[in-house]
Amino acid sequence: MANDMEEKLKALALAAKKSLENGANPEELKVKYLGKKGELTAILGGMGKLAPEERRTVGEMANKVKGEIEALLADAARAADDARLEAELKGPKLDVTLPGRGLRPGRRHPVSQTLDDIVAAFGKLGFEVAHGPEIELDWYNFEALNVPADHPARDMQDTFYTGGSTLLRTHTSPVQVRLMQKQPPPIRHVMPGRVYRKDSDLTHTPMFHQVEGLLVEKGPVTFAELKGTLDAFAKAFFGPSVKTRFRPSFFPFTEPSAEVDVSCTICGGKGCRVCKETGWLEMLGSGMVHPNVFTNAGYAPGTVNGFAFGMGVERLAMLRYGVNDLRSFFENDYRFLEQF
Ligand code: PHE
Repeated sequence: MANDMEEKLKALALAAKKSLENGANPEELKVKYLGKKGELTAILGGMGKLAPEERRTVGEMANKVKGEIEALLADAARAADDARLEAELKGPKLDVTLPGRGLRPGRRHPVSQTLDDIVAAFGKLGFEVAHGPEIELDWYNFEALNVPADHPARDMQDTFYTGGSTLLRTHTSPVQVRLMQKQPPPIRHVMPGRVYRKDSDLTHTPMFHQVEGLLVEKGPVTFAELKGTLDAFAKAFFGPSVKTRFRPSFFPFTEPSAEVDVSCTICGGKGCRVCKETGWLEMLGSGMVHPNVFTNAGYAPGTVNGFAFGMGVERLAMLRYGVNDLRSFFENDYRFLEQF
């Protein structure tokens, strides 16, 4: 019996060594021999059946074999570690002493800066700020603003419709109507925000920003006041030396209407590539509020007067900073953004 167990122990030690040499996984061998249900554990468990003097010799031997196997496994684990390190050292080099990349501080986006500057310039002229929804009812975006049913802007090609009677507002002008419904004159407000059009090229993006302006009084309001206000704004925004020019134009919600140009911010009006040799750059649309708009907003016709204007924020940022591709404002390239 005792001899039998000694034979088994020797065989076990030998088998463990062989397996390791043949590349067996040391972790698996540990379980196989030394684990709770391991082979050596099983032999040790059978020792109770031995005579006391036999138990000692077999016990000693079992402990020796256990120690041997443990040492073999430890060696194998160390060798595996060495091999892993060796492979790592042969792999791509990582220089941990190289200086790190610093964090770059954030800054306000040029479009946000421009929007704030526009609002601030009108703030100094006494204009307050109002907001309206970006998902708008067809009625506020078109109908109330006297835009006829067959107007091209109503085409699916130009407007993002979100439902039967809702759409993404194509301009900030619907906020005029919402504001007038909410309060009686006097109104002196600017209304900044995002607007959406199905457009995408060098000078158009599907989303852009506008600032709307509306002034309404119970008494008379003249076109001269509109001119004075917008000229003062242009000088505050672009600098005191810019000139403005009012060109007759058409918008369904203003009558008469005018587009306003500023003298070219690049050449100062002499004529260059940016202003296409005209000396002028288009800045915004404006006009005297159409009586139908007052009626639609709930004001009694003939009792109020006012003017309105609307401008593209990205467009003004382009004019101010001499940027020629509108899309650069939306690409989030830090090299572009950190110039402002
Ligand atoms: N809503 C017009 C546009 O988007 C601009 C405008 C606003 C014109 C107010 C006149 C009065 O082009």
